[in-house]
Amino acid sequence: MLINVAGRRMLGAMNDVVRGLEGVVVAETRLGDVDGEHGRLWIAGRPLEEVADLGFEGTCALLWRRPRDEVRGTLAAARRAAFARLPDRCASGAMVALREGLAAYEDADDAALVGAVPVLAAAWARRRAGLEPLAPDASRDHAADFLAMVQGGEPAAARARALDRYLATVSEHGMNASTFAVRVVASTAASRAAAIVAGVCALEGPLHGGAPGPVLDMLDAIGVPEQAEAWLRGELAAGRRIMGMGHRIYRTRDPRAAVFERAVRDLGAGGRIGLARAVEREAERLLAERHPGRALRANVEFYTAVLLEAVGIPRALFTATFAAGRVAGWCAHYGEEREGGRLMRPSSRYVGPRP
Ligand code: COA
Repeated sequence: MLINVAGRRMLGAMNDVVRGLEGVVVAETRLGDVDGEHGRLWIAGRPLEEVADLGFEGTCALLWRRPRDEVRGTLAAARRAAFARLPDRCASGAMVALREGLAAYEDADDAALVGAVPVLAAAWARRRAGLEPLAPDASRDHAADFLAMVQGGEPAAARARALDRYLATVSEHGMNASTFAVRVVASTAASRAAAIVAGVCALEGPLHGGAPGPVLDMLDAIGVPEQAEAWLRGELAAGRRIMGMGHRIYRTRDPRAAVFERAVRDLGAGGRIGLARAVEREAERLLAERHPGRALRANVEFYTAVLLEAVGIPRALFTATFAAGRVAGWCAHYGEEREGGRLMRPSSRYVGPRP
């Protein structure tokens, strides 16, 4: 029986349509464990805060069950190889660049795909700004090298460390939409690259990974805390969702928001965080008014926006930067699905005309 009846909404008979697959358990995993009721997250058995401290390379080692030094070396080699085969045109958007670039990685292993994402993303950002892509440097760690390829020069250690914590924190999050997309494609025995491209496509949407850019647009539009209530009420009255608020699983504030908020404070980027906190509080209050039975609190993307801005990542690269972290988890899920999965083939109920 693959249905979890302990979910928030009790599931009905097996032939009921479960909208959004809420509460449906599609796989067993040793990778991510999300406790939405209490706002806790474990990655490969370690609490979130510990994973953030491990940094991205340490987290890949944990997810892939490989030695950290080996991971560092293979990722550096993969970034170099990805740079050598960069496509020479500038795609229309960063996520398009990832989709197109990664689609050419047939027969690639985990490290090749994880190494390619920051190289493709950084090259896209440089070209979009009318600049030449910058080559990776194996003497840097993965996060610092990503930042250097985007910004040029040697990145400030504090910023590189903040990005490293960010990439580790978002590397894995259970059966989210993009991971599910990866596992569906993996279950067909398609290539690892095909599955990762599916993940990139799912991540692009604003209901999943595409919200951080719009969160910053919102902070720009609000400008000062005193304007928050009027602006947010206007959005809700127009039937629009407040970006960075709400989550399918969490009934609390997303625990990753606190990790990022702390990382921004550590960077000394205090001004913007004051506005973000004020907007978050107001959005929470107004959403509670409208949906009294549903806790709609800040999700990971709210403070992703503030953190990535403070680190100096361009807004158009936010979702691709999310992909640079999450691709580590996608690869691990691909492996799990290929080891123990079965072709995913759910059913639909026909409601159209009959002859
Ligand atoms: N702003 C306004 N209303 C929201 C909302 C938001 N951010 N999030 C949820 N709601 C509303 C829904 O429209 C729904 O209203 P209805 O009952 O009148 O239809 C109600 O609250 C309950 O929604 P819920 O079941 O919790 O949403 P979901 O699980 O289907 O969707 C999200 C979860 C994340 C897609 C949703 O909260 C959302 O769109 N958030 C904004 C986008 C975002 O931040 N995405 C990044 C996610 S990490």
